[in-house]
Amino acid sequence: MCGIVGVVGKADAAPLLLEALRRLEYRGYDSAGIATLVDGHVERRRAEGKLGNLAAVLEREPLSGTTGIGHTRWATHGAPTERNAHPHGTRRVSVVHNGIIENHAELRAELEAKGAVFETETDTETFVRLLDDLLAQGLAPQAAFSAALKRVHGAFALAAVFTGHPKLLMAARQGAPLAVGFGEGEMFVGSDALALAPLTRRIAYLDEGDWAVLDTDGAAFFDARDRSVERQVVVTAVSGAAVGKGNYRHFMEKELHEHPAVLGDTLRQYLDPKTLEVRLPRLPFDPARIPRLTISACGSAFLAGAVGRYWIEQLARLPVDADVASELRYRNPPLVEGGAAILISQSGETADNMAALKLLRQGGQKVLSVVNVPESSMARESDGAVLTVAGPEIGVASTKAFTAQLAVMACLAIGFGRSRRELSTIDEGRLTQALLEVPGNAALVLEKDAQIRELAAEVAKARDVLFLGRGSLYPIALEGALKLKEISYIHAEGYAAGEMKHGPIALIDNLVPVIALCPTGPLFEKTASNLQEAAARGGRIMAFTDADGVGPLSRFAERVIELPKVGDLSAPILHAIAVQLLAYHVAVLKGTDVDQPRNLAKSVTVE
Ligand code: F6R
Repeated sequence: MCGIVGVVGKADAAPLLLEALRRLEYRGYDSAGIATLVDGHVERRRAEGKLGNLAAVLEREPLSGTTGIGHTRWATHGAPTERNAHPHGTRRVSVVHNGIIENHAELRAELEAKGAVFETETDTETFVRLLDDLLAQGLAPQAAFSAALKRVHGAFALAAVFTGHPKLLMAARQGAPLAVGFGEGEMFVGSDALALAPLTRRIAYLDEGDWAVLDTDGAAFFDARDRSVERQVVVTAVSGAAVGKGNYRHFMEKELHEHPAVLGDTLRQYLDPKTLEVRLPRLPFDPARIPRLTISACGSAFLAGAVGRYWIEQLARLPVDADVASELRYRNPPLVEGGAAILISQSGETADNMAALKLLRQGGQKVLSVVNVPESSMARESDGAVLTVAGPEIGVASTKAFTAQLAVMACLAIGFGRSRRELSTIDEGRLTQALLEVPGNAALVLEKDAQIRELAAEVAKARDVLFLGRGSLYPIALEGALKLKEISYIHAEGYAAGEMKHGPIALIDNLVPVIALCPTGPLFEKTASNLQEAAARGGRIMAFTDADGVGPLSRFAERVIELPKVGDLSAPILHAIAVQLLAYHVAVLKGTDVDQPRNLAKSVTVE
């Protein structure tokens, strides 16, 4: 979602803010802006579109000043225009905001009745006008900021600078992440540690409802009831090194090619190659004693959870519910006593999943989060966390983080199976050995690049595409369709292969490619027969399978791409890489913005 950043310091603020915004651009790229205090007055520069447009504006009209705030936007209220771009302000104050102020309409009406004239349709401006009104009444910035915070509802993070106060910055967190960075004679705020890491590694995270007052020497923290509180300063593990594309055209391409390394790094955390055992960190629950497990996540992370459900049910014989967090949070599901939950999230900040976390904990469930950002809100607020070791993922469409989530879910499934005495030592050794081969096999999938590019040339011509899979490959079919939609804007659907004849088969004609994920194994014949039904109706079958599947599928499929022959814990991971590569090449052929597809953003911190 939107990214916010602020500095109160000793060097020119604008270049620092711009650099930090570059590292936050994955959160939104509709428009961007910066405001600094120049001779005690707030001055701002804003631009519609990508950050490069703002950089060009700053080049033409530089901003001086050592205190300032910056914003990169993912529009919620109001179109993504320069006028609606942040910072928003009056002559007294300037504000950047991430999230949604839910009671903005009623506050706006109240302020308009008092004579306030609004310039934009944004919810942010209600906070600005509220603050301005309190300042106009004579309140000092700190008192006004605290009073304004009490009036706004919703999930947000805010930062503000004040006319006449060149060494003052205020920030607040309520439902959206915010970190305070400690420098030498300079202080920072930012939506995440990634933005702040080049400026400082010493970071304190605001807790829910906290707000902070920063000057060049430090920060004072207050809780939602305005009590002075201490917040621990940690040294972030996030690297401050520039995250670059190397020799790749896109971050997504680079991240796809990081699969072998990321899978190796992640699996090495949880598998012992000598003893062939799974070594999980201390879990907040005993898998042998829980009656039921709930998995909650959003988007691709949910699909990793859906694969995990198949694995955990099969290997640990543990009943599992898997639901998208946006549904789970309002479904009011009956939660069993002594139950546990796994939350999956790359960012560890996704608003719907954070709400699910609260609901599950209130319902007495012990919550384990599987996250890629160790210092994220989800990791901090869960009862325990297991990390994916994917490194920063900059491409908005998830690739390596998704397969790392699958790798962790596979380790958890084996570990749970052992704890529940459903797997013998021999089974564990066999499954562990198979997982240890995944990084090497991932490299072999990447070697299919040229063949997948040829397939992409066919898919790029289509208006609609179907992805089919069975068992643990069904969620990967959904992931293939999601990825294709996200970055190529081609309409795609994923179906359980067995569901074809219950409806989707009506769509089959020679214009709709059917991408089949069909490794050999117990479900191969069933899937192959569903595909034949589609082929018999003129469907164009393009299949991913392994060496043993090539012969049978080639009898009716237009194209067959051979992936390594592996077992059920590895096949979804390898097929996921294949469909991600496919989506990537289709998007490149269509000329879309692969890394920053339209309307999307990473780290969805609004509901
Ligand atoms: C799809 C994608 C999204 C995310 C989802 C959850 O390519 O990236 O569907 O998986 O927004 O995000 P996290 O994992 O950060 O909770």
